[in-house]
Amino acid sequence: MKIHRRIPVIRSYFEKRDARRLRALLILGENSEFSGFVDKRAKGASIIVGNDCLIEGALVAETDQSQIQIGNNVYVGGQTTIDCVRSIVIEDDVLISYHCIIADSDNHSALLSIRKKDLADWKQQHKHDWTTAPTAPVRICHGAWIGARAILLKGITIGEGAIVGAGSVVTKNVPPWTIVAGNPARVIRELTPEERAN
Ligand SMILES: CC(C)(COP(=O)(O)OP(=O)(O)OC[C@H]1O[C@@H](n2cnc3c(N)ncnc32)[C@H](O)[C@@H]1OP(=O)(O)O)[C@@H](O)C(=O)NCCC(=O)NCCS
Repeated sequence: MKIHRRIPVIRSYFEKRDARRLRALLILGENSEFSGFVDKRAKGASIIVGNDCLIEGALVAETDQSQIQIGNNVYVGGQTTIDCVRSIVIEDDVLISYHCIIADSDNHSALLSIRKKDLADWKQQHKHDWTTAPTAPVRICHGAWIGARAILLKGITIGEGAIVGAGSVVTKNVPPWTIVAGNPARVIRELTPEERAN
């Protein structure tokens, strides 16, 4: 039986207390806690986390162009994956629940002739031609709340203060101060002035 060579996850981080290793992978602001997982797959990638955050999920930076920017007072729940090829921006006071997926790329081409080569490439030390996959930046604006198991696809902006219901698949921009839910996510109502008050 062929023994497959495991690719060491040397750029990944598990141990909460190893601040030196963590700081080699990302910039972590004051009073922020990190008990999640960083997978920085390219040296030029940039991961910046602001102040007063709690990050329990996974931050994955795929390419030298990947930029994950997280503002202040942001929560990212356990088992949530933020998978960035180009740009994912999360503004201040955002809550992202557990088991969510936020991705700025489809990762694969719709063309079978291209896609069928992806696995062989990936098995060679995680090589992938990211130019073959549709990619577009994602932004989650100030004060938004993303419910458990939501999926946010490429190119969307979640407006200020908006709420994404549990289990939603967000395929289009979400207007500020609305609640969206379902698959595909649709506006179920606008938030009241009382709910918007800061
Ligand atoms: C969206 C949410 C905030 C509720 O908002 P709400 O304004 O109280 O909405 P309601 O419960 O009155 O529901 C309004 C309609 O939306 C539907 N709806 C509510 N949440 C939904 C969801 N997550 N997915 C699909 N439909 C949903 C309801 O079925 C209802 O439909 P109807 O009008 O056909 O009966 C809540 O349902 C939710 O998803 N919360 C997230 C909880 C979570 O993930 N917690 C994890 C800890 S951070």
